[in-house]
Amino acid sequence: MESSKLLIEGGRRLTGEIQIHGAKNSVLPILAATLLCGDVSSIHNSASLSNAFAAMRILRSLGCDVTHEGSTVTVNSANAEGDIVSDGLMHEMRSSIVFLGAILGRVGRCRLSFPGGCELGPRPIDLHLEALRRLGVKITEDHGILDCTAGARPQSADITLSLPSVGATENIMLYSALGTGETVIRNAAREPEISDLAGYLIKCGAEISGQGTSTLVINGVPELHGCEYSVMPDRIEAATYMGAAAITNGELMLRGVRPSDMYSCMSVFSEMGCGVYPYDDKIFISARKPISAVRTVRTMPYPGFPTDCQPIVMAVLAKSRGTSVIVENIFENRFMAAPELRRMDANIKAEGKVAVVEGVKKLYSAPVRAYDLRAGAALVVAALGAEGQTQVSNIHYIDRGYESIETALSSVGADIRRI
Ligand code: EPZ
Repeated sequence: MESSKLLIEGGRRLTGEIQIHGAKNSVLPILAATLLCGDVSSIHNSASLSNAFAAMRILRSLGCDVTHEGSTVTVNSANAEGDIVSDGLMHEMRSSIVFLGAILGRVGRCRLSFPGGCELGPRPIDLHLEALRRLGVKITEDHGILDCTAGARPQSADITLSLPSVGATENIMLYSALGTGETVIRNAAREPEISDLAGYLIKCGAEISGQGTSTLVINGVPELHGCEYSVMPDRIEAATYMGAAAITNGELMLRGVRPSDMYSCMSVFSEMGCGVYPYDDKIFISARKPISAVRTVRTMPYPGFPTDCQPIVMAVLAKSRGTSVIVENIFENRFMAAPELRRMDANIKAEGKVAVVEGVKKLYSAPVRAYDLRAGAALVVAALGAEGQTQVSNIHYIDRGYESIETALSSVGADIRRI
């Protein structure tokens, strides 16, 4: 609900263990991909997130039968003939654009409204549309409505992305998996979520290679069948709870993670002075010492430091010893947490893509509000390390990407409740 808030009494050291959920940024494209097999797929380890529920609503609106039991979503897309994503659903979740490639691949036509910009910036989709046109798709843009029709596919297409866009890579994969022809994507995104989507599609019978590298090759196949698939762990959720341990000088064991996805995150927490110990599917983080500043944190496409962790790390560095410089290279406007952190006495100067964080000894509670998903999570992390009771509002943003954040945090000693 729009009005719900989190009340957080800061200053308590977090200790214990948290089970990490399946990745939001993987389950969304995988749910879109279930359209392509015209069969039944069971997607396990699917977190209960408002964004996942929105994706299920889109699938139902397209004629799929979708059930959700615990962390398993079962999709039967046998009768999916729909080719429209409603304006409401597009505005509810702009990443619904990832349905474009799947709907086109399945029914050959798709109409949806241009995804709105969001708090992070205009969020253009020019790379998506350029690539689909290279694959023979006719696209008209009229009064904010995209009307797309699949045309004759080229026998082979060699697409170079001007930047390694996650969404564009996913849309090309989704459109090329079912059909004919070989599609090569150069400068493809290398995020683990891309490899997870490839894993699901390959299990459905797709022919994909190079996932995780900058050059992806997809050979279209005439048919895909359903399968059971388990979504990869959410590396951003894991990094968020590492931030909570760091700012409270606590110790947390994070279970059900994949440390090999998180080297750049782990190294930043180590630079802060945390003890970070990865095991096969766990990470133990200990922050007994006061946090030190990190000279420079710059966000980069994977395997660089992920932009989604940047607001969380900003919150932790706000209460550290020394000065850190954060460079946000991915999104135009991703320092939304800074003004809210300043209300808690943080000393942050953000200008363009650079933010200078002068660590302070103490943060103080203040009424703050989330303006986007990860900035909201950053405020929760800051509140855990602040003196007094902080009220975070607009937490529906946080519910998009974290399954009941207050349950996870209170299970390791935080005084946090939803009102
Ligand atoms: C995905 O967004 C994630 N969302 C984002 O996570 C994540 O921050 C981002 O990848 C980068 O890792 C989902 O997976 C649902 P991009 P996406 O296309 O696909 C520009 C979160 O908090 N660009 O890699 O939209 C774009 O403006 C969310 O979980 C173009 O210019 O990211 C941005 O500056 C936030 N033209 C940059 O590329 C295009 O056609 C990266 O965007 C496409 C993108």
